[in-house]
Amino acid sequence: MENIDAVFKSIDEHQDEFIDLLRESVAIRSVSADPARRGDCIRMSEWARDQLRTLGAETSFWDLGKQQLQSGEELPLPPAVFGVYGRDKSKKTLLIYGHLDVQPAEKEDGWNTDPFELTEIDGKLFGRGSTDDKGPVIAWIAVLKVLKNLGIELPINIKFVLECMEESSSEGLEKGLEDNIDKISDVTYSCISDNYWLGRNKPCLTYGLRGICYYFVEISCARQDLHSGINGGSVPEALNDLMWIMSQLVTVDGQILIPGIAELVAPLTKDEDDLYDKIDFCVDTFKQETGSHGLISDSKKNLLMNRWRYPSLSLHGVEGAFSQPGAKTVIPAKVIGKFSLRIVPHMTPEATDKLVTSYLDSLWAKRKSPNTFKITSGHGGMPWVADFRDANFSAGSRAIERVYGMTPDFTREGGSIPVTLTIQDLTKSPVMLLPIGASDDMAHSQNEKINRENFVKGMKVLAAYLFELAV
Ligand code: BES
Ligand code: MN
Ligand code: MN
Repeated sequence: MENIDAVFKSIDEHQDEFIDLLRESVAIRSVSADPARRGDCIRMSEWARDQLRTLGAETSFWDLGKQQLQSGEELPLPPAVFGVYGRDKSKKTLLIYGHLDVQPAEKEDGWNTDPFELTEIDGKLFGRGSTDDKGPVIAWIAVLKVLKNLGIELPINIKFVLECMEESSSEGLEKGLEDNIDKISDVTYSCISDNYWLGRNKPCLTYGLRGICYYFVEISCARQDLHSGINGGSVPEALNDLMWIMSQLVTVDGQILIPGIAELVAPLTKDEDDLYDKIDFCVDTFKQETGSHGLISDSKKNLLMNRWRYPSLSLHGVEGAFSQPGAKTVIPAKVIGKFSLRIVPHMTPEATDKLVTSYLDSLWAKRKSPNTFKITSGHGGMPWVADFRDANFSAGSRAIERVYGMTPDFTREGGSIPVTLTIQDLTKSPVMLLPIGASDDMAHSQNEKINRENFVKGMKVLAAYLFELAV
């Protein structure tokens, strides 16, 4: 630990170089959801591999096979990048997971700057992926560069698993990890930096994520679109059926209407209930940052519990429905309604699928429509909850204290990182989430950013954490 001040100083001095590295990565349009950008996702994997190689890590690609698109077309999956840095048998080994694919973004969506050109304004680095999750991955790379340049020996062996399909439910990675289990069986701890602080000023460490189940409800009423003047009043309409179904999934205050879901949820214990009181979270600031017109609860505890430890159901969209500006008098022939549930302990994707399917089937039977009706479920991701009183979390906590001079809050998250539980189970190592970005970074949204200060201090926390883990 005696060297840590030199490490911090070097991080400060070289911060602009690391921001340039982030700029380079943001410029690669690695949108995993867009088939046209698959080449960029593969380039992104290559870029990451080359970065690790330059450091002196042993790297390899894990071939994750092909993706089957709904259209029947097949696309290659970008390979996962595996990097081994340090092989000292007397040291512990840390697995670092991160993703370098991003959500779609267009300037026209309402960005103030080009989303793929990292732009600094008032200490904020705007760009798609700046906080989710290119920034944190590059922070790790930066730390290792600094240690290398200073000639400081690594306190712990490191294994990287980086992917470029996370935003598309990490397709292929679970199998990739299973196929390569022998390469990660010596892992002592795992760390994922792919979430955000609970507020803007106080760091946190995260011990829980919700899982996700995604559904498609397809209804078709005719061979092709119809004219509502010619056919209106003579044909039972698909979109009419779909709206009727989608309106019976969740109430205005967020109660899920699918019978049986609530019974699957782990009961709240007194110990868990007490944890929420200590957490630094301001409901008003949250409301203002979200920019929402209202909140489902004014109570800090209810709000946090609804985000972290209870399931939620969101409606996402309707494929095939007319959505351009202006009025078009069409009867869409086929529509696909999309919704998802964020799932929590003790829900599983299997149990959730069963309840969702039987509820939708019963609604459809009640509807007595002559149309065709089909439910398919997309990806399922398991929830994850860990013990934040273990050695991994205390190392993280000490690292944060050193850099920020305060002890972090221990938080859960409402979002999902599909392979978290897989990593924990396959490596049999405790996993910790160590966020470096702030609550107002706007991941997935317009004008995503990471603060320069969070990025730079985040590197220092990651560096200190490596040394704390080794003690
Ligand atoms: N970094 C997020 C996960 C996350 C979201 C953590 C919110 C904390 C708060 C990740 O990149 C993500 O967006 N995950 C997807 C997973 C899905 C595509 C399976 C999500 O949560 O929607
Ligand atoms: Mn992410
Ligand atoms: Mn994301």
